[in-house]
Amino acid sequence: MTDNIESILDEQRLFEPPASFAASARLKPADLQALHDEAANDYQGFWAARAREALIWDRPFTTVLDDSNAPNYAWFSDGELNVSANCLDVHLAERGDKTAIIFEGEAGDRRTLSYRELTAEVSRFANALKEQGAVAGDRIVIYMPMVPEAVIAMQACARIGAVHSVVFGGFSATALRDRINDAGAKIVITADGGRRGGGIVELKQATDTAVGDDCRTIEKVIVLKRTGHEVNMTSGRDIWWHDAVAGVSDECAPLPVNAEHPLFLLYTSGSTGKPKGIQHASAGYLLHAKLTNQWVFDLNDNDVFWCTADVGWITGHSYVAYGPLAAGATIVMYEGGPVYPDAGRFWKICEELGVTVFYTAPTALRALMKFGDDFPNQYDLSKIRLLGTVGEPINPEAWMWYHTVIGKERCPIVDTWWQTETGGIMMTPVPGVTATKPGSCTQALPGIIMDIVDDNGNPVEAEGGGYLVIRKPWPSMLRTIWGDNARYIETYWEKFQNRYYVAGDSAHRDKDGYFWIMGRIDDVVNVSGHRLGTMEVESALVAHPRVVEAAVVSRPHEIKGESIFAYVVFRGDRPVGDEADTLTRELRDWVGEQVGSIAKPDDIRFTDNLPKTRSGKIMRRLLRAIARGEEITQDTSTLENEAILDQLRGLA
Ligand code: PRX
Repeated sequence: MTDNIESILDEQRLFEPPASFAASARLKPADLQALHDEAANDYQGFWAARAREALIWDRPFTTVLDDSNAPNYAWFSDGELNVSANCLDVHLAERGDKTAIIFEGEAGDRRTLSYRELTAEVSRFANALKEQGAVAGDRIVIYMPMVPEAVIAMQACARIGAVHSVVFGGFSATALRDRINDAGAKIVITADGGRRGGGIVELKQATDTAVGDDCRTIEKVIVLKRTGHEVNMTSGRDIWWHDAVAGVSDECAPLPVNAEHPLFLLYTSGSTGKPKGIQHASAGYLLHAKLTNQWVFDLNDNDVFWCTADVGWITGHSYVAYGPLAAGATIVMYEGGPVYPDAGRFWKICEELGVTVFYTAPTALRALMKFGDDFPNQYDLSKIRLLGTVGEPINPEAWMWYHTVIGKERCPIVDTWWQTETGGIMMTPVPGVTATKPGSCTQALPGIIMDIVDDNGNPVEAEGGGYLVIRKPWPSMLRTIWGDNARYIETYWEKFQNRYYVAGDSAHRDKDGYFWIMGRIDDVVNVSGHRLGTMEVESALVAHPRVVEAAVVSRPHEIKGESIFAYVVFRGDRPVGDEADTLTRELRDWVGEQVGSIAKPDDIRFTDNLPKTRSGKIMRRLLRAIARGEEITQDTSTLENEAILDQLRGLA
């Protein structure tokens, strides 16, 4: 990571926004400056004005920011609105027949939904949820493939004030169960499977295991028929989606809720073994999701926006299910894998569906880049006018490939920094205005006050590195961790006595005031743009009956960005040779079952014990250096068992 950052920091190239793009961009330099000035002069006034312009309120707010319970902040807290009405109903008069969603299944099946059709489907399903017993405030878990019904289910929850928690379809039954239990969910919405990479993801089977016999909260499981393959249905508990909506009205008045009413929970990894339920509020979240779709993706009525993220991640919430719809855009949803049936699939979709704005993760770009330029070159990508990335720092090589081979040097690239917790994009180039540097997310958006501070919380002036913090609360910030406010305060605020939000990243600011993200400072790793706690993987490993102890670190990986490297202490003799190979496979599958495929360690090394200091602390820095094949610089004389080093290096 350090090497990577050093090379990034040597990056001298500067790319001005292409003149053709800048000429018709929504935000011109003067507009952006005016927004920054407005926020600098009157922070609350700035956000109040945006909230009044961008959202339709059932009851207007009079309070902007309530900081009486800081760091539990509230925004617009005496106002009322409905998120689904702001994404759907608001468009019916002007663009009811406009396409809201263009869907492509992995097998090539297509379907489009206009705003009017989507509103009807959402309303119908919202009524069905009510018939199944859902009321405002109930938690509903959504465990679905990337099909329009996933968005319909999310919007339907929002329509009736139910709180959804989408669990990524790649997570295992165990991970699903933990999230259901933590949220105390009443209903799960799933499918008989989704298509991915030529196979079927067994979502219903995993749901059955998760809900099992001991789940006390789940009353109903609603199952979408997607693949048509056989699944078990438990009578009294399970109901098909098509049966649930049969004969149900497609009109459902959106329920006005308080601005602070929780819109959703989304579980994400932290530095303990237990994922945290990040809780977002309704109005502030939607405001930022809508604004950033306009400011950053420059969405206009003719755009076809494809954000490739799954709705199981925050990106799929803010830039698929909510933000672009609030902005009245046409979105693309694709069910399957990026290299199915070949590495041209993304580019084929871009050509055939006329994608104009494309947003993906650096890991996907690196994976596709590996297959060469012939794939993208087979397709007409001339409609694309803007490109974006998210999830991890983009290495300059992938940036240049994106810029030249995909963007043909005419599309700005927005490298967007943000987090599950921030709800929407915080730092990014503004496409018609900001000159970009490959690998830098440049600067904060208007109304977002980012900074870098040292160990004592003092701002690092000018060029320098340190902790990335956000100086002022912002509307789309997380409100708390579901069921654990103490953890919320401890994780994000305590380090600097509640003065700033601590992002958990370290960052560097260059001479031009541009930000460069250097990675996490906690025990969180970023595998293929997905956040994983090393502790989560460790807990999964030690849950195996034969594992005594495990330590997990990351190492750089050409495509995934980072990959997981696990050191494992086994009960009995240390496995070697064929036995070690067999057990490695077994443990990888085990972690896959406990957490999900993305958490499977790429490397597992068996050792007699873990390197510890005399006080019993695992020497993680040492383990990291070994995993990365770096020279060991730290003092190993305090090791209890110095001979262990050769085992850790894989030499003994
Ligand atoms: O480390 C940063 C990295 O991803 C983390 C947030 O992960 P998650 O909550 O899963 O959200 C990912 C999608 C918003 C951050 O703390 N990260 C995200 N975007 C970037 C990034 N690192 C560098 N550059 C980015 N553009």
